Amino acid sequence: MKAEEVDLTIDSLMPLPEKILKEGDLLTDVEIYLMYHGRPVLYKRKGVPVTKSFLLESAELLKNLYIKREDTRIIVERIHQRLLELYNKEPDLKVLREVFGEMGSLMDTVLALPNKENLDVVKRFTGELAGYMESHPDSAYLVAFTLKKDFTTSLHISNVGALVSGFALHLGYKGEDYKKLVISAFMHDVGKIKVPDEILKKPGKLTDEEYRIMKMHPVWGADILKSTGNIEHVPVALFHHECMDGSGYPSGLTGDKIPDEAKIVQICDIYEALTGVRPYREPMDPYEALTLVREQFLKKKKIDKDLYADFVIFLYRNRTED
Ligand SMILES: [Fe+2]
Repeated sequence: MKAEEVDLTIDSLMPLPEKILKEGDLLTDVEIYLMYHGRPVLYKRKGVPVTKSFLLESAELLKNLYIKREDTRIIVERIHQRLLELYNKEPDLKVLREVFGEMGSLMDTVLALPNKENLDVVKRFTGELAGYMESHPDSAYLVAFTLKKDFTTSLHISNVGALVSGFALHLGYKGEDYKKLVISAFMHDVGKIKVPDEILKKPGKLTDEEYRIMKMHPVWGADILKSTGNIEHVPVALFHHECMDGSGYPSGLTGDKIPDEAKIVQICDIYEALTGVRPYREPMDPYEALTLVREQFLKKKKIDKDLYADFVIFLYRNRTED
């Protein structure tokens, strides 16, 4: 591949979100740049699809690949087309896996820069997803099978979004309340964008200082949501790490003072964190994960017992109706 030097400022570029670099046509209309001695050189032209050999060639260079910020629109548009095609189909397991896979790519692309425009995209897409799920309520009992096993923040978010979209339907959420909760779920960890990567991706235990920084993400998320006109999604972002016994953060709220929506996202968040792959430990199976939640959270009165019971039933139906 012949590389050409181009006249572009670094500010007009952003790192290529790793998870979206895969074989297929998602990036066909997007130019990819290689940062070479601090200067961007054209690495893939528009019109060239990402092939297997391109991926092999690029594996070593991944951290140095960039795209134009403005081209995220092209990627988002392509993801949208695919989602709309999927929404014309009945939500079987294959379709839902593709839907949440596309949502993961979307989150990876837009949450790198959670400004108003990008959060509006998240809102629009997750709102449409809520509409699709609500018009096919049985889809609630397939979502646990769609969870992607990986440890990036964007996949964690789309996994939690998948679980919440199913669990909330199971709990009887409908209409605007349902839509708002699904959108909140997809935005709940937006504050993690401000947590340095060394902490976010650290394999193993955080030091006290690192943990203190990590625990800022609900407040940072709430700030981002307030400043982008998403006030209705602040409670979930701000309170999803509060515990019923007051031992959570950032406010140490107790019992009924924690909004129900934050409790719903929290239980899905905990379950996903335990069953998802992390670099430093094996993922738990659903039974082990629920046992740990019972021992570490329910018995210590950190989570709502009725909600836990509902969640167990919800997962049980996910497991038996495949
Ligand atoms: Fe969180």
